[in-house]
Amino acid sequence: MKILVTGGAGYIGSHTIVELIQAGYDVLAIDNFDNSYPYVLDNLAKITGRTIAFEKVDIRDKSALKSYFQLHKDIDAVIHFAANKAVGESVAKPLKYYENNVGGTVNLLEAMQEANIDQIVFSSSCTVYGEANPPVNENAPIPIAQSPYGNTKQICEEILHDQTIATDLKVVALRYFNPVGAHESALIGELPIGIPNNLVPFITQTAIGKREILTVFGNDYPTPDGTCIRDYIHVVDLALAHVAAIDFLTQKKYTDSFSVFNLGTGRGNSVLEVIQTFEAVCGVKLNYQIGPRRAGDVVQVYAACEKAANELGWKTKKTLEECMLSAWKWEKAIASNTLN
Ligand code: NAD
Ligand code: UD1
Repeated sequence: MKILVTGGAGYIGSHTIVELIQAGYDVLAIDNFDNSYPYVLDNLAKITGRTIAFEKVDIRDKSALKSYFQLHKDIDAVIHFAANKAVGESVAKPLKYYENNVGGTVNLLEAMQEANIDQIVFSSSCTVYGEANPPVNENAPIPIAQSPYGNTKQICEEILHDQTIATDLKVVALRYFNPVGAHESALIGELPIGIPNNLVPFITQTAIGKREILTVFGNDYPTPDGTCIRDYIHVVDLALAHVAAIDFLTQKKYTDSFSVFNLGTGRGNSVLEVIQTFEAVCGVKLNYQIGPRRAGDVVQVYAACEKAANELGWKTKKTLEECMLSAWKWEKAIASNTLN
């Protein structure tokens, strides 16, 4: 079976390529390196012992995509990661997000239709649930999105759903909770460009001395310690869920042509718990302060994971401790400048 991975040089795409290859799938990858680097492909080759069949393709370029599919006629399914993901930037530059995330997905679906490829796994997000009552399951209402980024995920899910009605397309939409951590080799991981917005990269950058101090955004929330609660999922567990989703599609285990799954641990951890876990397992004291709330943050969200367990046969295995240790090992690898 041959799987095309869009955004294959990115954080989640690269980890997924490793697990697909290890599960015996043939992998093709495309990326435009908008938020990643070519050396990732070399490091994927080091991890897997395989050269990655890669081409630089921008999914906004419809004719390039179509030519790509004409050259690669034996693709069985696509995993679609390629998108922009910075929530704040999406508020400042909504058209960039609609063009890339929505326009790019439409281009991809057109090219797939022309090439008679009718199986796709799509990267969605728990952000579609907004402020929900955790544990949140897949039937929770989808409120109006709080950012253009979140809206692109909602719109893409709807487009994919419409396309399953109009054609033979089969879709698995995966709603990720908070992906963190890195591959145990520390050869691939998340490379935040500029000042990180997300908690775990900010923690590791503070610990290594790149940032002076971590600010905890609010400790007056209605939670046990006053800080927000999230469901932090190790990126390798997340990658394995994509293998399960591809098995589910290619082995026709679905009952509906559009299936949606939460990907989380089912466990909620507060910001302070994450900090304390990092300090305990990595043996580093973090410089942090309590600051004001960040606009747009939900109080608490974590996943109900039964659907993925029952239908995909997938569950997370890694602990928050392993998430922190691997994120720290990755940060040290970046600092030692041995990645490329
Ligand atoms: P990432 O930025 O590391 O990876 C995305 C990859 O897509 C990058 O390598 C980028 O260069 C590429 N790309 C972007 N636009 C492209 C285009 N027009 N053509 C070709 N390639 C393009 O992000 P990630 O964290 O790996 O996220 C992957 C997917 O998962 C995204 O769709 C994201 O929205 C979604 N998601 C991520 C998170 C998260 O916290 N990381 C959470 C929920 C959902
Ligand atoms: C953010 C995005 C969301 C995306 C998710 C996963 C926003 C509003 N939401 O969610 O769309 O799907 O990332 O990539 O940006 N925190 C601090 N100090 C920091 C950084 C974060 O206290 O320096 C806190 C936040 O307030 C939050 C928690 O840590 O309570 C996690 O934050 P973050 O990693 O940014 O993820 P989300 O807010 O869940």
